[in-house]
Amino acid sequence: MSDEIIELKELCKTFYVGFRRRQVDAVKGVSFSVRRGEIFGLIGPNGAGKTTTIKMLTGLIKPTSGTMKIMGFDGFDRRCSRKLGYLPEISYYYESLTAFEILDFYAKLYGMGRDRAKAVDYWLERVGMSHARNKRLGQFSKGMLQRIGLAQALIGDPELVILDEPQSGLDPIGRRDVADIIRESQNKGKTIFFSSHILPDVERLCDRVGVIRNGRMEVTGTLHELLSSEKHIEIVLRGRTVPEFVEKSQADPCISCVPKENELSITLEPKAGIRVNDLLMEAIAQGYTVEHVMECGADLEDLFVKKRDTRAAEGD
Ligand SMILES: Nc1ncnc2c1ncn2[C@@H]1O[C@H](COP(=O)(O)OP(=O)(O)OP(=O)(O)O)[C@@H](O)[C@H]1O
Ligand SMILES: [Mg+2]
Repeated sequence: MSDEIIELKELCKTFYVGFRRRQVDAVKGVSFSVRRGEIFGLIGPNGAGKTTTIKMLTGLIKPTSGTMKIMGFDGFDRRCSRKLGYLPEISYYYESLTAFEILDFYAKLYGMGRDRAKAVDYWLERVGMSHARNKRLGQFSKGMLQRIGLAQALIGDPELVILDEPQSGLDPIGRRDVADIIRESQNKGKTIFFSSHILPDVERLCDRVGVIRNGRMEVTGTLHELLSSEKHIEIVLRGRTVPEFVEKSQADPCISCVPKENELSITLEPKAGIRVNDLLMEAIAQGYTVEHVMECGADLEDLFVKKRDTRAAEGD
């Protein structure tokens, strides 16, 4: 069995909108893979192409070009359906059905037998909706519907779970429940692929992350891979004048020096042309006192905003 449960190569989706058939290139050659058993998070700004990518993965829309392998099948294959759980970005349910009835309906679609009532009650309990078991969905709040949607995605015990913004509309407890359920699913051997705007949750949960922007996958990797290149060193020296060796490096965009009263705050980005050790030795040799040296990490939000700023500066 292949290690990759999802493999996309140069996947594109173009929509043609309106009477004049205006061309919208929603996804422009996205390639990435998701390994069995991992939690993969897809992040990106509004309109980046997350939902369009997910709709192609789940067979709801056809790619315009590119190749896609899901669970070893070429393209979306109906044989995947029973092994796939999907929470759409916006769910539409029959308002007149109760929470129990809708989950029972999905359980039937998954081919579950008479004992499915047990599974329905388990999932109602797991998503905190037991109290609304016999209430009609038309009376549900947004967050309550989202919880039912999550139960619907998981009730068939799928191998691969694809969730389009599972935390959307949820209160903090609901968000934590979703995170727990995602982790639990991974512990049961499932693969989870989800999109999100809640970056701290993505950071806490995901083994690997992909950043999509403007229809293109900007980066994919483990958080360590993505964030280690964003680490920088902060050095504070006591002294009034900018040391000569820093002055010489002023042209280096990876080194910045800010004088504050009788202190100098120096920041070295990962690609700075001077090593921390050399800088400190020179500073000490020239009579400066080293007040502090600290390695500062970046988080996903820093990466996300920084990449956006870089792209804006490049005029993309
Ligand atoms: N059915 C469609 N017809 C025309 N254009 C579409 C269609 N679906 C999506 N688009 C366009 O494709 C682009 C990507 O949309 P998509 O819904 O995939 O973004 P997203 O990353 O999911 O955004 P969000 O974070 O807001 O959910 C947008 O420009 C959108 O307007
Ligand atoms: Mg979306």
